[in-house]
Amino acid sequence: MHLLTSLVLLCSAFSAAHAVTVYGQIPLAQTAVATATDSSAATQTTLAAYDRTELTPPALPSPNPGANAYTLSLEKSAASVQGLSIPHVGGGFWGFSIEMSVVSQVLGKNSTFLQVPFLNLLANIQERAGSVLIRIGGNTQEFATLVPTDSIANGHTFSKEDSGSNQTTKTPAVLYTQDMFYMAANISQMLNVKWFMGIPFNDSVNWRLEIAENAQAIIGDNLLGLQAANEPDFYEKFGRRTTYSPELYSGELESLISTMDADSLITNKAQLLAPSVSGQWTPESVWDTGFIDKFKDRMYAFTVEHYPRDNCAAQFATGGDIVDPQQIFGDYLSHTGPVSLVSPYTNSTNLATAAGKPFLMFETNTASCGGFKGISDSYGAALWATDYGLQMAFNNFTHAMLHVGGQNAFYNPFTAPPTNQSTFNEWTAGAVYYATIILAEAFGTSNQSRLIDLWGNSGSVYTPSYAIYDGDALSKVALFNYLDDQTGASDINVTITVPQGVPSSISVKYLDATTVSTKNNITWAGQTLGGQFEVDGRFKGDLSVQKISCDTTANACVVPVPAPGFALVFMDTTEPAVSFGTATQTFATTAHTKSHNTATADPAVLATSNGHSAENRAGELGSTSPGSASSSGARRAAVASGLAGIVAACAGALWVGTALVR
Ligand SMILES: *[C@@H]1O[C@H](CO)[C@@H](O)[C@H](O)[C@H]1NC(C)=O
Ligand SMILES: *[C@@H]1O[C@H](CO)[C@@H](O)[C@H](O)[C@H]1NC(C)=O
Ligand SMILES: *[C@@H]1O[C@H](CO)[C@@H](O)[C@H](O)[C@H]1NC(C)=O
Ligand SMILES: *[C@@H]1O[C@H](CO)[C@@H](O)[C@H](O)[C@H]1NC(C)=O
Ligand SMILES: *[C@@H]1O[C@H](CO)[C@@H](O)[C@H](O)[C@H]1NC(C)=O
Ligand SMILES: *[C@@H]1O[C@H](CO)[C@@H](O)[C@H](O)[C@H]1NC(C)=O
Ligand SMILES: *[C@@H]1O[C@H](CO)[C@@H](O)[C@H](O)[C@H]1NC(C)=O
Ligand SMILES: *[C@@H]1O[C@H](CO)[C@@H](O)[C@H](O)[C@H]1NC(C)=O
Ligand SMILES: *[C@@H]1O[C@H](CO)[C@@H](O)[C@H](O)[C@H]1NC(C)=O
Ligand SMILES: *[C@@H]1O[C@H](CO)[C@@H](O)[C@H](O)[C@H]1NC(C)=O
Repeated sequence: MHLLTSLVLLCSAFSAAHAVTVYGQIPLAQTAVATATDSSAATQTTLAAYDRTELTPPALPSPNPGANAYTLSLEKSAASVQGLSIPHVGGGFWGFSIEMSVVSQVLGKNSTFLQVPFLNLLANIQERAGSVLIRIGGNTQEFATLVPTDSIANGHTFSKEDSGSNQTTKTPAVLYTQDMFYMAANISQMLNVKWFMGIPFNDSVNWRLEIAENAQAIIGDNLLGLQAANEPDFYEKFGRRTTYSPELYSGELESLISTMDADSLITNKAQLLAPSVSGQWTPESVWDTGFIDKFKDRMYAFTVEHYPRDNCAAQFATGGDIVDPQQIFGDYLSHTGPVSLVSPYTNSTNLATAAGKPFLMFETNTASCGGFKGISDSYGAALWATDYGLQMAFNNFTHAMLHVGGQNAFYNPFTAPPTNQSTFNEWTAGAVYYATIILAEAFGTSNQSRLIDLWGNSGSVYTPSYAIYDGDALSKVALFNYLDDQTGASDINVTITVPQGVPSSISVKYLDATTVSTKNNITWAGQTLGGQFEVDGRFKGDLSVQKISCDTTANACVVPVPAPGFALVFMDTTEPAVSFGTATQTFATTAHTKSHNTATADPAVLATSNGHSAENRAGELGSTSPGSASSSGARRAAVASGLAGIVAACAGALWVGTALVR
C-alpha cells in the first residue's frame, strides 16, 4: 500500500517538472564499462566491508555426533506441544540497528535524496513480514547533537566531529539536522518502517531531549521507541561516568523521566527502551533495583545488547589479544553458540513477558568492533544468524536488531559503495542479510507464529532443527546442516512424520552456497542479491522452490539437507510465502544518478500525503490493487533503462520500478 502511494508521489513529483531531479545522469552502458575498467575498485577492496578473505572450513567432527538420516516426529496441533515460544508479531524477527554515524551512507544524503537499494532491501522484508524495524543509534548517539538546518555544508543531514571520547570504538560525535527525522518519516511514507532512536546520555544533568521532541513530532506513530542509555554498563569503562552502577543508572532514568514529564514537546511519555546492558552488568543486577515494576509503565520494551565476541584489538588497536578468525570459525558453525548466547536471557525475556512488555536484543552481530575477517560475511555467518535469530525467538525475545556499521565493518548486512565510487558501483550485501529474509518468511504476518527448538538427530549441535506453528497448525520446519563436506558424505536426509498425517507434498526453500567460507553466490530459493558492488536490493535469478512428494502411507516426507545447508520446509505448499521472491514492488533503479541509484522526491509533494491513501489513490491509477497496478507497464519500466523508464512508468500511471515478478 505504501509502495503504491509512493508511486503516485514519485509520479506526481515527476510531472511537476522540477520535482524529480536526476543528478548527473550517466547512461547505464557507460557505468557497466566503468565497473569493468576502473582500477580504483580494486584498491577499495581493502576496506573491511569488501574484504575477500576466505577461511578454511573447520574439520569435520570425529566422531560425528549425528546421523546422516534422522526422523522428526511432529504434532500437527500446537495444542499438543509443550514449550512453544510466545507468539511472534510481524515486522520480521530481525530488524536493523544502524549506527548513527553511517546513516547518510545507508539511508541517503538527506530526506529528498534516499538510497534506492536500501529501500529495495527493506521492501523484501516488508513483503514477507508486513513491516520492518530500524533502530538509528549506537555508541554515536551519546554525543549526537542537533544543529540548525543548513549548518552542514552541501545540503547534508549529517557531519562528524571528534567527540573526545576515549571509548573502544573511537566514536565520532555526530552532528545532525532536523532533516534526519524527515528522512525517517519520508521512508515510512514509502514503506512500513517503524523506528527506534536514542536519547543522548553523556550528560545526565542537562538532558538533551531534542531527539525525543523531534522524533515524536515528525516521525509520529512510526516511531516505536526511544532508547534511554546505550550500554550503560560500559559508561565507567569508557570514562563517561567516574563511578556507575545499576542503582545510579536507575536514578538517572528517574531524572530523565521527570524531565520528560515536564517537557510539553514530548507527547508520548511511555516509549522508552532500557536498560540495554551488554554483558558488563547482568540483566538481573538491573532488575534487582526494582527496575521492571518501577519503569514498566514508561517502557515500550526492555532491551539488552550483546555480541558473542569482540574484534576491538585488531580493528582499533585497543590492546589485548588479537583473535585469529580461523581459530574461532568453528564456534559460529554449531548450535552450541546460539544456545549459549541466548540462555542467559531466558529469565529476563520471561520477566518482560510477565510484565506485558516486548524484550529486544537491541544491537548484535557476529562480533563487536566490526566483526571478523572471513567469518562475518561468510555463508557460515548466514547459517549462524538464522540459528541465532530462531534461538532468540524460541527463548521469547520479541525482536533482534542486526547492527550495520560503516565501510570498516566486516559484518554489515548491506553496505553502500564508498562515496567516490557511487557513480559506478552498486551496493554489497552481507551474508547475514539472508537470515533476516528467512526469519521474516518463517514467521510471516499472522502475529501467531510460535516455535520450538527440536534438538533432533540425537541433539547433534551440527544439525539443529526447529518447528514453527502458525496459530494451532504445524506450519514450517527449519533444518540446518553446519557441516562442510564437499564429498557429500555428510549430507543428511530428515524424515518429517506427523502422527495425524502428512500432506501429499511439501515445499522447501534452501539457503545455498558451496562452502561455509564463501561469500559468493549465496542463494535463497535459487535467487541471489548479487556479488560485491552488484546489489540493487532486488533478488536476481529464477525462484526455485523444491516440491517434495510425501509418502502418505508411511506418513513421511523426506527432506535432504546438503553439508553445508539450510532448508525451510513449508507444510502447506499453497502458503503465499512459498512464492515470495524479490519484493513485487521495488523502487526505481532506472533513476541512475551520479550518486548512484538515488531516489529523489519533492518534499512538498510528500508532505501533503498522509501515507495512508493508497487505496484512494489507486482509483486514480485505474486499478484497485498494487498487484494489478504493477503488471505490464511496470515490467516495461524494469527493462527500460535510464530516465525513459521513469517516464514510461509515470506516463502509464504505474509503479516506477521493477516488479520482476516471482
Ligand atoms: C576514493 O577515496 C579513497 C580514500 O580517500 C582513495 O584512496 C581512492 O583513490 C578514491 N578513489 C577514486 C576513484 O577517487
Ligand atoms: C537421501 O535420500 C536419497 C533419496 O532417497 C538417497 O538417494 C540418499 O542416498 C539418501 N542419503 C542419505 C545420507 O541417507
Ligand atoms: C555531551 O555532549 C555534547 C555534544 O557533544 C557536549 O556539548 C556536552 O558538553 C557533553 N556533556 C558532557 C557532560 O560531557
Ligand atoms: C538534498 O541533497 C540534494 C543534493 O545535494 C540537494 O539538492 C537538496 O536540496 C537536499 N535536500 C535537503 C532537504 O536538504
Ligand atoms: C582520554 O584520554 C586522554 C589521554 O589518554 C586523557 O588526557 C583524557 O582525559 C581522556 N578523556 C576522557 C574523557 O577520559
Ligand atoms: C530471574 O531474575 C530475578 C530478578 O533479578 C531473580 O530474582 C531471579 O532469581 C531470577 N531467576 C532465575 C531463575 O535466574
Ligand atoms: C516462552 O514463553 C512461553 C509463554 O509464556 C512459555 O511457555 C515458555 O516456557 C517460554 N520459553 C522459554 C524458553 O522460557
Ligand atoms: C500484527 O501486528 C501488527 C502490529 O501490531 C498489526 O499492525 C497487524 O495488523 C497485525 N496483523 C494481524 C493479522 O493481526
Ligand atoms: C557464481 O555462479 C555463476 C553461475 O553459476 C558463475 O558463473 C560464477 O562464476 C560464480 N561466481 C563466483 C564468484 O563463484
Ligand atoms: C519529507 O522531507 C521533507 C524535508 O526535506 C519534509 O518537508 C517533508 O515534510 C517530509 N515528508 C514527510 C511526509 O514527512
